[in-house]
Amino acid sequence: MTSAAKPIYVLNGPNLNLLGSREPDIYGAETLEEIESMLKAAAAGMGMSIDFRQSNQEGELVDWIQEAGARGRGLILNAAAYTHTSVAMGDAVAAIGVPVIEVHLSNIFAREEFRHHSYISAGAKGVICGFGALGYKMALNALDAAEATGPENG
Ligand code: DQA
Repeated sequence: MTSAAKPIYVLNGPNLNLLGSREPDIYGAETLEEIESMLKAAAAGMGMSIDFRQSNQEGELVDWIQEAGARGRGLILNAAAYTHTSVAMGDAVAAIGVPVIEVHLSNIFAREEFRHHSYISAGAKGVICGFGALGYKMALNALDAAEATGPENG
């Protein structure tokens, strides 16, 4: 499979299945399904395809990060609470050879101290947070631009 034919994996961690009803003042009113539809439409317009998933299980997310490395073109990852706790997910991100963009709906640096540290960031190409659902679209653009500018930019 050529790189262009490979999907961008979009992986979502625990409790993001509750978006829409979960603390909408922090996370916005969109459901995860609405974010998926918005992103798939944007990706189609850019000639990309998306493999969009959510899990509340850490091990399943580790398996999917590895799968993204083996079969994907890039990874957009909102690890949710596991961002702040999961050495295993951070190790998986560092182990794969495709670019990873870390996304958070909320601005984690404007919130509680325990959200300021991420086990994901060191292995990510970049981090987007605080822009709500738009952050996923920004991550897609970032992956597209990263491919266009080449490996010298990470
Ligand atoms: C989150 C931020 C995390 O701190 C939190 O645990 C989440 C969602 C975000 O998208 O803003 O579940 O990743």
